[in-house]
Amino acid sequence: MATATGVAPTIRADGLMKHFGTVKALAGVSFAAAPGTVLGLLGPNGAGKTTAVRILTTLLMPDGGHAEVAGYDVVRQPQAVRERIGLAGQQASVDEYLTGRDNLVMAGRLYHLSMKTARRRADELLERFELAEAASRLVKNYSGGMRRRLDLATSLVVSPPVLLLDEPTTGLDPRSRMGMWAVIRELVQDGTTLLLTTQYLEEADQLADHIAVIDLGRVVAQGSPDDLKRSVGGERIDVQVRDPGQLGMAAAAMARAVGHPPEVDRDVRRLTTAVDTGAAALTAVVREFDADHVVVEDIALRRPTLDEVFMKLTGHATGGVEEPPAPRRGRRPSA
Ligand SMILES: Nc1ncnc2c1ncn2[C@@H]1O[C@H](COP(=O)(O)OP(=O)(O)OP(=O)(O)O)[C@@H](O)[C@H]1O
Ligand SMILES: [Mg+2]
Repeated sequence: MATATGVAPTIRADGLMKHFGTVKALAGVSFAAAPGTVLGLLGPNGAGKTTAVRILTTLLMPDGGHAEVAGYDVVRQPQAVRERIGLAGQQASVDEYLTGRDNLVMAGRLYHLSMKTARRRADELLERFELAEAASRLVKNYSGGMRRRLDLATSLVVSPPVLLLDEPTTGLDPRSRMGMWAVIRELVQDGTTLLLTTQYLEEADQLADHIAVIDLGRVVAQGSPDDLKRSVGGERIDVQVRDPGQLGMAAAAMARAVGHPPEVDRDVRRLTTAVDTGAAALTAVVREFDADHVVVEDIALRRPTLDEVFMKLTGHATGGVEEPPAPRRGRRPSA
């Protein structure tokens, strides 16, 4: 599958399948990320996101389909793939009984950096992830968010050209989440190709150039955030009137302007209507309001949010469940 620009994609999955007993974790999933872009895999709990990431990072064999990372086949050329990727898995894989700095130095040594280079890189990353103060503390005393940041830092020790982040901001507070977004944007600016999974629509909207919405092991939609919003169709006009006594008159005016009556929420004095002529419909509504002297508190033309897109595509809302801090895990493989 070629990307929209015709450039060979850096990450590519074609018809990936994976079963666990009777569970179809992936039922033929295809997506692609162009070089230097962010691909967001968006889906609720159990959608198959981690399974896809594990296949792309050579930790799991697919039952069917094909995947390539940086031009190498994940099944036939796993070593070449591993040399080009960084992974921050869903469960932090840092060593609890080492300090933050020692975790990073050890990761550098595993990648065959000299001791001096490994130490210098560790210090740079501690600084960048705001962990310098906590660098000498044992990771078992880190908060969940600090662990998450250290885990991401560990995946960046050797600046891999392709990075896969499995729910990089789950469990982070809003400030840490924004910090993580900033780091992710910097990486992409530096040319990294990134796949990130998320249950947060807002995150995909903020970061991803291209989104594949996954549900029950299938891609149910894909495109740019704008494409997806457009695919649900229908911009909406939202109006809030100042005087609840004018709701009826405002509803009649909107109906005249757009040809059908709006939904009315009396409690918040709000009227909403779907329109297909965008700004022209908005102008018509404003004109009718003016003629009837309807006083508005707020009026806006808006596209559906990604939340609405997700609801429409999958028939249910996203999970967004916060996790407790990850338990102690063994070291990551050499990926
Ligand atoms: N090793 C395994 N053994 C059995 N079933 C598994 C295994 N790994 C995943 N599954 C099942 O495959 C499905 C997809 O799981 P996966 O972890 O890929 O979902 P996810 O999209 O990452 O979900 P979450 O948002 O909760 O992390 C789920 O039904 C899960 O229970
Ligand atoms: Mg997962």
